[in-house]
Amino acid sequence: MTMNKNPSDALVLFGATGDLAYKKIFPSLYSMVENGKLDVPVIGVARDGYNTDALCQRIRSSIEDFGKGLDEETYSKLSKLISFVRGDYQDPDTFSQLKKQLGSAKNPLYYLAIPPSLFHNVIDNLAQANCTDGARVVVEKPFGRDLASAKSLNHILHQSFSENSIFRIDHYLGKEPVQNLLYFRFANTFLEPFWNRNHIKSVQITMAEDFGIEGRGHFYEETGAIRDVVQNHILQVIALLAIEPPSGGNPDALRDEKVKILKAITPLTKDDLVRGQYQGYRDIDGVADNSQVETFAAVRFFIDSWRWADVPFYVRAGKSLQDSVTEVLVELKPPPQSVFQEALHERSNYVRFRLGPNVEIAMGAQSKMPGDNMMGHPTELSVCREHIDDMPPYERLISDAMDGDATLFARQDGVEAEWRIIDPILTDGGPVHAYPQGSWGPEHADSIINDDTKWHNPEID
Ligand code: BG6
Repeated sequence: MTMNKNPSDALVLFGATGDLAYKKIFPSLYSMVENGKLDVPVIGVARDGYNTDALCQRIRSSIEDFGKGLDEETYSKLSKLISFVRGDYQDPDTFSQLKKQLGSAKNPLYYLAIPPSLFHNVIDNLAQANCTDGARVVVEKPFGRDLASAKSLNHILHQSFSENSIFRIDHYLGKEPVQNLLYFRFANTFLEPFWNRNHIKSVQITMAEDFGIEGRGHFYEETGAIRDVVQNHILQVIALLAIEPPSGGNPDALRDEKVKILKAITPLTKDDLVRGQYQGYRDIDGVADNSQVETFAAVRFFIDSWRWADVPFYVRAGKSLQDSVTEVLVELKPPPQSVFQEALHERSNYVRFRLGPNVEIAMGAQSKMPGDNMMGHPTELSVCREHIDDMPPYERLISDAMDGDATLFARQDGVEAEWRIIDPILTDGGPVHAYPQGSWGPEHADSIINDDTKWHNPEID
């Protein structure tokens, strides 16, 4: 295994005719060509009866359906880079064909947009065909189903790739507002004095989606909200909120800090979790009539560290909720005395990060209402408020992987630390509570939040 510092000189996409390629990868490759970031051969590999022309047609429709518009000149540049290798992932001949197609490329990037159950075959056959030296590999979440399977998946990958040639995508890390969260924390000095247990009462993260599981029933029955988004996206957001400042400037500094904080999060117990399932979920194709899979999870995390001891991190993530919105609310403790003899508005001091659909950072404060009385009202200081028309996360992440920059990718120790937190509730997570579509989840969710706190339902204007 040689470590490779050169930019990738070919991109090989396994699962080229699949859903992920269609919805996310091809539109991103198109944008990369548009922005001058992709000019190396792109080889699609898949089992279906496709050929290069048919694949190009599929790429065209994918850009029309999921991109930001199609310009013929850019599309033509992209289509000239495309070729197709048809074959069975278990058949060594597929990989001899691929080797031929790679020609003189020395540092290909293999993107495994395929189910993890196929990784073993693909990696073995790439190695047998002498295709792994100098190469990189991109794998998609979920990285395993629990700690044990994540370890064996990592073992398979490490047989042919060194850790710094493995790029595990958690697309949340490529999102502009998530990057802004990290930036805002460490590009300013004023947050640091109050960013700790002495001043912060609780942290809440809401990841609400107003749509259900239609079309993904089979996948979701194997996954559920905890494996789908809590184990990865949510824990990454918690890590960015809670880490110590990365120092030293090396590419691993940020990932080192994230792993440290993930290791400090207390493993969950059944009492930290309320699971919900929206009414109507069981009617979806691929879902069992008596399914116990959660489409909603309310979770309470604690971080066992000097900075965060006893500060609850409350999370709600769910499908078919009232709105599609992702937001973090960092609530500060109230002032020690009520100097102005008035009942303070609940929740008037906070920092709010809207991570989607738009980007917002705002600080909640109490200010005096004009008039004779020393009476106040809650106001918000807006730090930024923008609509996102940014680089799609996949474009940023594929470009980074091709350049060998792993900063925004999950590392093996981090993934295993995430599973260590989640593992205890996978087998014993308590009952699922039904909730109506369009609500904020089951009422039972109130049972894991402290009496003096309320769930924060983000408002969409
Ligand atoms: C994916 C999950 O990883 O993230 C989906 O599998 C979820 O269930 C999605 O809807 C949310 O990401 P985004 O970028 O669409 O908000």
